[in-house]
Amino acid sequence: MPRLSQWIIRTAFLYLLLGFTVGALLLWHKGAPLHPALWGWLPAHIEFLLFGWIVQLTMGVAFWILPRYWQKERRGKEGAVKIAFVLLNVGIWLVVAYSVFQASRTFLLVGRVAEIGAAVFFASHAWGRTLSREGA
Ligand code: HEM
Repeated sequence: MPRLSQWIIRTAFLYLLLGFTVGALLLWHKGAPLHPALWGWLPAHIEFLLFGWIVQLTMGVAFWILPRYWQKERRGKEGAVKIAFVLLNVGIWLVVAYSVFQASRTFLLVGRVAEIGAAVFFASHAWGRTLSREGA
């Protein structure tokens, strides 16, 4: 597995841990109230698990497993995937800053644009590697 996939997948696991922890606290709070501010963390639970875990794990595994090129740069240019990795994580925390810590709406807007940017950069890399066995 390439080093970049290892970084992306390990980061995804951190979000799984964070997301499940928040989810477990929310579940507990439903049965036996812990703190009134806890419901404010529901958007973070969703953000961590949908983008931090599911999307990020998919990116990490896809970078590793999509068909490689015959030439020297066998997985294509890594740069676009590195940019996607940074954009996705910056985006997640900007959205969390808005939804949990009441930062301004600009955080939400910039965060979502960063997440869309991550998808665009990742797709620009993966598009050329989405091929059949015959190479077409
Ligand atoms: C990949 C795994 C998960 C994903 C993608 C996920 C996603 C979500 C989403 C989208 C919601 C909002 C649902 C709504 O507003 O109708 C939600 C709510 C919630 N989740 Fe998760 N979740 C996951 C795992 C978990 C786990 C493992 C726990 C508990 C240990 C948990 C506990 C909760 C609780 C307590 C709520 C609030 C339910 C309510 O509104 O009463 N989630 N989750």
